Amino acid sequence: MSKTTIKHHQADSDKLVIEWEDGHTSTYHYMWLRDNAPENRHSNGQKLIDTLSIPLDLTAKSVNVNGTVKIEWANDGHVTDYTPEWLRANSYELSESEARRNTQHTWDLTDFPETPPKYKFSELTSNDSTLRNMLASVRDNGFALMQGIPVKSESLFKVIDLFGYVRDTNYGPLFDVKVVTNPSNLAFTSATLGGHTDNPYRHPVPTLQLLHVLSNNVEGGDSTLVDGFKVAEVFRKEAPEQFEIIASTLVTFRFSSDDADLQHESTIIQTNVRGDITGIRFNNRSMQTFYVAPEKMKAFYEAYHTFAHMLEEDRFKLKFKLGAGDAMLFDNQRVLHGRIGYASSGDRHLQGCYADIDSLLSKLRVLERVMSDE
Ligand code: OGA
Ligand code: ZN
Repeated sequence: MSKTTIKHHQADSDKLVIEWEDGHTSTYHYMWLRDNAPENRHSNGQKLIDTLSIPLDLTAKSVNVNGTVKIEWANDGHVTDYTPEWLRANSYELSESEARRNTQHTWDLTDFPETPPKYKFSELTSNDSTLRNMLASVRDNGFALMQGIPVKSESLFKVIDLFGYVRDTNYGPLFDVKVVTNPSNLAFTSATLGGHTDNPYRHPVPTLQLLHVLSNNVEGGDSTLVDGFKVAEVFRKEAPEQFEIIASTLVTFRFSSDDADLQHESTIIQTNVRGDITGIRFNNRSMQTFYVAPEKMKAFYEAYHTFAHMLEEDRFKLKFKLGAGDAMLFDNQRVLHGRIGYASSGDRHLQGCYADIDSLLSKLRVLERVMSDE
């Protein structure tokens, strides 16, 4: 029962309906067929035809099925050839396209009974399959840990060179995380930082963050990571009405200094039209006053409390202590990071950088493509 053998076809005035040998039926509108004809697509993915040049009432003069599907177009007599493999792979009924979607696996503490593996920097720079595994961990888990990164300033640039570009911000291309006098940010003290995402006041938000440890000789100072998508999923299941409030109420984030006034209005949990959780902006420190209909304010704070408490629950939280030469790289729209407070007398110095995840995912796809050919 081949998935790509055509059992029967029917050419209507506006569409072609194909019944496959495995019993599935697919519908292909002529407009879509002409617009997406593989002959008009460059190998780089770019379409070389203008959709507006195709008449909306396009119809077929003839349809011949003989190994391939040949359509002679009524408007200009051009003939386009489609392979059954291409047609089946691109059929667009919901059930088929849903099955092709990558559904993301989310994690909690039970997925990591031990500290997650740390990728060695020397292997990342010399071995593409190690690099692929590390980047795949960022895609699949939202983070990766590394070790053996030279313990000197700006080493993070070498890590970012492996997959993309530094995302410069008002903090500079690289920022130091250590205790300073007159701190502008709680990060530059020795206080505990609950799970948060960075720079929610930026749009676009930096989609990746890196933190590299130069020293961490203090009592405390452990790092924490939480899969915000997992917590949001559980929140949706356990408190659906409160989830709805957090996913639909716009709040304002801001950072203001002498030379910056960054502001962005967003929901704390972002979803797409399909209801998928696509992003988290959670940073209590940068939330401003915001507007909610008075009769809804109480419910907003109740929902915020529930979600914020869940984000701090032990069942979701990975805790580990990074030492000199270690780093973590994480998806700043998915994974919340934090730290345990430490005795300010000790010596702790981290450097941080932002980068963007599109380059990382692109590099990963290229590595996967090359490796699947081997
Ligand atoms: C930060 C931060 C965590 C740490 O600088 O954004 O969250 O471990 N730091 O100091
Ligand atoms: Zn942070």
